[in-house]
Amino acid sequence: MHINCINKEMLKDKKIIVGITGSIAAYKAAYIIRGLVKKGAEVQVVITPSGKEFITPLTLSTLSSNPVISEFFSNRDGTWNSHVDLGLWADAMLVAPATASTIGKMSNGVADNMLITTYLSCKAPVFIAPAMDLDMFAHPATQQNLDKLRSFGNYIIEPTEGELASHLVGKGRMEEPDMIIHRLDTFFASQNDLQKKKILITAGPTYEKIDPVRFIGNYSSGKMGFALAEVCAQRGADVILLSGPVALTASHPNIRRINVESAEEMYQVAISSFPETDAAILCAAVADYRPAAASLEKIKRESEGEVTLRLIPNKDIAASLGAMKKENQKLVGFALETNNELAYAKAKLEKKNLDFIVLNSLSEPGAGFRVDTNKITILDNTGRTTGYPVKSKQEVALDIVDKLVDLLK
Ligand code: CTP
Repeated sequence: MHINCINKEMLKDKKIIVGITGSIAAYKAAYIIRGLVKKGAEVQVVITPSGKEFITPLTLSTLSSNPVISEFFSNRDGTWNSHVDLGLWADAMLVAPATASTIGKMSNGVADNMLITTYLSCKAPVFIAPAMDLDMFAHPATQQNLDKLRSFGNYIIEPTEGELASHLVGKGRMEEPDMIIHRLDTFFASQNDLQKKKILITAGPTYEKIDPVRFIGNYSSGKMGFALAEVCAQRGADVILLSGPVALTASHPNIRRINVESAEEMYQVAISSFPETDAAILCAAVADYRPAAASLEKIKRESEGEVTLRLIPNKDIAASLGAMKKENQKLVGFALETNNELAYAKAKLEKKNLDFIVLNSLSEPGAGFRVDTNKITILDNTGRTTGYPVKSKQEVALDIVDKLVDLLK
């Protein structure tokens, strides 16, 4: 896969610790190291004892032009390998591949090898590229450990779906080396480009009450909005994440999450928060209608028989913010369409006074609700239309935030 680099110079002279653990994907670390060195980075490899079962230190030291560190002491002369010095030396640490075991040790501070002690001493940003079987990756133990690492401000480079070493197919394949290098490149290029900016993001569905146990909702998972919140926070913004009911956690310390249920509650918080922000990204799938009156008691089948629900329109949050928008504020909306996509998206862009709109089409494979990927087209208010390939929601979030950063400059 060919990746366009944002800036060829971004990784030049950057000092990067590459941590390697005991996974079949360890061979891909060789490509990562070669790629980093080619871009002018200085690489120091730290490998776990089981990592050495998968790739030899000789290969790694040759590629990185540095001795590989694995033990606390050098076997040859007893010299102490200082994990503290190494942690302070680095501009970034990348653990690729990261096994479930290493992820568990990192999240719990189990410092029984040189890689973990280096991680615990590292002051620089840490990137973690998991690699494991699909069931291990999906297990709540792994997911909770990853959430904990996110809450420490570490960056998780999501594994992709594909055939795994077990021959099972699913999510757990380490991201490809050139994508991992691109991620580091992007990080250094975008570091703090949203510092001192405040961004409001709406995410997830809204629930409109029918009675105390039933509601009108939609399939939105909130994943796109949460990915946007993480990216904005990582790039230095203070984020207000206004979320409908979703089963997701937002862990970055720069994110202030406000939970709401209905479109009306989301509207109230959005309207009061917007004036203090530099931009709003309206990613929520807000219900257009709500029942005219929610029943205070559960509607009973026997007593009611046939039920007719009268629906009344909710307020349009995007259009209201569009009407309030000041010259220096930017507004980003989403459009999810099934037909006449470009025409509908353009009409929403204009009607809601947005700066740009992100169009996803439900007819595109890999786009839409409940999937981890998305395929977008961005239409802006200067008439420009840009299409993007299918990417993970994290990568899509980076593209959207790049566009917003350009507008806020
Ligand atoms: N939106 C909003 N408040 C609403 C409805 C939509 O803020 N009450 C926002 C969405 O978050 C999205 C954009 O407006 O950014 C477009 O949402 P969409 O549901 O596609 O548009 P609608 O105007 O509701 O049009 P329709 O559902 O008829 O296609």
